[in-house]
Amino acid sequence: MPDLFTLKECTLAELITAGEAYLLEHPLVYGHGTDNAFDEAAWLALEACGISPIDPLDSYEIAVDQPHLQQAQQWFRRRAVDKVPVAYLTGRAWFAGLEFTVDERALIPRSPIAELIHKEFTPWLQEAPGTALDLCCGGGCIGIAMATVFPQCVIDAVDLSEDALELAAINVQKHRMGDQLQLHRGDLFAPLNSNQKYDVIVSNPPYVDARDMRDISPEFGHEPQMGLAAGPDGLDIVERILAESKAFLNPNGVLIVEVGNSKEAVDKRFSRLDLVWLDFEYGGEGVFLLDAASL
Ligand SMILES: C[S@@+](CC[C@H](N)C(=O)[O-])C[C@H]1O[C@@H](n2cnc3c(N)ncnc32)[C@H](O)[C@@H]1O
Repeated sequence: MPDLFTLKECTLAELITAGEAYLLEHPLVYGHGTDNAFDEAAWLALEACGISPIDPLDSYEIAVDQPHLQQAQQWFRRRAVDKVPVAYLTGRAWFAGLEFTVDERALIPRSPIAELIHKEFTPWLQEAPGTALDLCCGGGCIGIAMATVFPQCVIDAVDLSEDALELAAINVQKHRMGDQLQLHRGDLFAPLNSNQKYDVIVSNPPYVDARDMRDISPEFGHEPQMGLAAGPDGLDIVERILAESKAFLNPNGVLIVEVGNSKEAVDKRFSRLDLVWLDFEYGGEGVFLLDAASL
């Protein structure tokens, strides 16, 4: 097995193999778009060579030149030693089939809500939404994906973090959203017009509880903690979303919220609500749906 850092000339296939072996030597946590060392090695090697990981490639037996090899070696070291997630190294990630610019100003897109949007919220919405809200939008992936799937839908997207909104603005421009999507800075519903009603409110808010925050792996330490931490039981923000959503939903509207590992705490605290926990074909869990009438 060739050593990644003694490689002088190699093919893309050899770079991926050596990269995977190197990653496997390190205690790494996956979960920012991949779940294994081989996929991360392929992602890093392809990007270092200037090849999009989602484009079909005829052959992996192509030669890797020196500048690309050096870029790959640098990125592999930062991934393995500094535990930087791949998307923060390469600067992009994919969500609902769309490419997003990514950096440490916002969380890396990975919500299973992508699948719901991709499937046009079937069977949960009777018709295409005319208005939608992406609450806690981060870099804008959920709002932009909804705007793309529903071209007639007008979207508001809110985040408290100025940094996250700067990144969201880059993605709004990248996807040429024009007037279809407006970004707002503020605390949950505060920056919105109080008369505004939505057909769907979607949120991937912070929901990590204090114990998980204490044990968090270094990879997640590169992400803004404001996007993760949500009080002792992880419900600080979710509780407020549940309390305030009804006023902003149309009578047939639905609220969809990701709470990840805090599912059990949500079920316990809000047992009186008719929460529907959604199933995912492509992985993920901890997302509930509630219709306006049940709120
Ligand atoms: C888990 S991240 C989700 C980002 C994005 N929606 C995604 O799926 O990748 C949660 C986001 O909520 C934002 N946030 C935290 N507290 C907030 C609040 N009180 N009001 C609005 N946004 C808030 C954070 O800045 C962060 O961008």
